[in-house]
Amino acid sequence: MGPKLYTELASWFHLLSDPWDYAEEAEFAGKTLIEASRIPIREVLELGSGGGNNASHLKLRFEMTLVDLAPAMLELSRTINPECRHISGDMRSVRLGRQFDAVFVHDAVTYLTERDGLLECIRTAFEHCKPGGVALFLPDFIRETFQSCVHHGGHDGAGRALRYFEWTYDPDPADTIYAVDFVYLLREGDAPVRVEHDCHICGLFSRGEWLELFDQAGFTARVVSDPFGREIFVAAKP
Ligand SMILES: C[S@@+](CC[C@H](N)C(=O)[O-])C[C@H]1O[C@@H](n2cnc3c(N)ncnc32)[C@H](O)[C@@H]1O
Repeated sequence: MGPKLYTELASWFHLLSDPWDYAEEAEFAGKTLIEASRIPIREVLELGSGGGNNASHLKLRFEMTLVDLAPAMLELSRTINPECRHISGDMRSVRLGRQFDAVFVHDAVTYLTERDGLLECIRTAFEHCKPGGVALFLPDFIRETFQSCVHHGGHDGAGRALRYFEWTYDPDPADTIYAVDFVYLLREGDAPVRVEHDCHICGLFSRGEWLELFDQAGFTARVVSDPFGREIFVAAKP
């Protein structure tokens, strides 16, 4: 079923993660794609597009096609990105039968917990990228940069409000997964605040493993430090 945040609680997603908060990150992603590509970038495929937060900014520069596994998240993204093409699919196996100038994979890649699944996703990006184009992958963490942490936040909306507490930790450093436990406080109208717990299981791979998988898929990839302290991957298709 996956996290409640992408299924039964999807309509709350923009109160946890506000599209406006993505402006700087999307600006960085757009600039990085353009600088790394050997062809002009017009059409971009996003794998795991979620609530369409990044896309709501990237669409000002590029024509965006958005793929996500969760129907409720596609529905939510359509509300802020009605002009984008939305497609239901798994980033490991979706095949659209055409290529794009660039492929963008943001934090959704974090949900791939097995090495084989990550390779399948990288292969999906390769298949859908034109020669000379580029794929950008932004995992939240790689093995070398992982840190336990806590965050909190939330927003007020029309007649409803959400606040959350987020705890990221790695129960077993010997395997390829870590956990992100969320507690959501949901307030609707005058009703008492409702509390929901949601556990997100995420994948953790080393820099070397990532680069090896890009190589296996046919990309020429390099690591770049982004302005938010993450190590991300810029993968060029020869
Ligand atoms: C944090 S949200 C992405 C938010 C996105 N970065 C944005 O700008 O709104 C993570 C998304 O990954 C999607 N996802 C997880 N596993 C997936 C898979 N195998 N294929 C496609 N989408 C997947 C979930 O359905 C969810 O919508």
